Amino acid sequence: MSMPPIPLNMPIPLNMRGRRVLVTGAASGIGKATSRALAQLGAELVLTDRAPLDDAVEEIRALGATCAAATGDLTDDAFRDSLFSGAPLQAMAHCAGILAGRDWRNDKDWKERFHRVMDVNVRVPLEIAMRAIDHMAANGGGYIVLVGSVAGKTGGTSLNTPPDYSASKGAVHAIVKWTSRHAVTQGVMVNAVAPGPVETPMTRGNNTGPTLPLRRIGRPEELAWPIAFLCSPAASYMSGAILDVNGGAFVG
Ligand SMILES: NC(=O)c1ccc[n+]([C@@H]2O[C@H](COP(=O)([O-])OP(=O)(O)OC[C@H]3O[C@@H](n4cnc5c(N)ncnc54)[C@H](O)[C@@H]3O)[C@@H](O)[C@H]2O)c1
Repeated sequence: MSMPPIPLNMPIPLNMRGRRVLVTGAASGIGKATSRALAQLGAELVLTDRAPLDDAVEEIRALGATCAAATGDLTDDAFRDSLFSGAPLQAMAHCAGILAGRDWRNDKDWKERFHRVMDVNVRVPLEIAMRAIDHMAANGGGYIVLVGSVAGKTGGTSLNTPPDYSASKGAVHAIVKWTSRHAVTQGVMVNAVAPGPVETPMTRGNNTGPTLPLRRIGRPEELAWPIAFLCSPAASYMSGAILDVNGGAFVG
């Protein structure tokens, strides 16, 4: 017996119309591409970054989407909290992160750099996720997406990956597991993507492409769509997942 056809008028859960989404790290790379993907799906956007957001806002408005922007440093607790003071958010894609240097044994500022990477890549995702969980739980639930890395699972796709960055991304994966257990019973789904190398300012000079199974590193859009999916009700039964998006660089 064949399956009945899917009715053409069935609501599509990837449709983000009427949903307000906070995107961090939205001035560049994966965050900027994620904002575009969400705008194309109909979301209303709130963009944030410590870098200027004019270009990103212009791109989103050119797609016909509503967009607000707030420039500031996410390590600043008061600034981070202020992002949750507006109308209810139904999703957050937390893409902000840093890779602060590759050589570490000869870095005279190594200890300071280690603490900076842990502050931005570990403390901020934990605290912003907890803040977003409280906000969304009080407003009918929602979706939170963090950005880990293949480096947090394997130590990196090349010997070039610094240990502070690798360790911080492994911690992001642990934060997803921990926060998701607190959030799921409140109707908030916390998941992550674990990208392989992606062509953004963070990987400038990365020449691992030819060594990868697809013979190239990823494009920001190739992360944006999986993140947009995890921000949408199409992911309504996903909680605590770390989605590998790495072009086959690591099969776990
Ligand atoms: N590019 C890759 O190959 C790759 C691979 C795996 C994971 N990631 C992760 O993906 C995420 C996005 O990276 P990307 O490649 O798009 O890098 P990117 O440098 O292009 O973008 C990161 C953005 O985060 C912002 N940011 C950094 N620290 C901030 C802070 N304290 N407050 C506010 N904004 C801050 C930066 O200004 C920048 O616009 C990061 O978490 C990164 O670790 C990237």
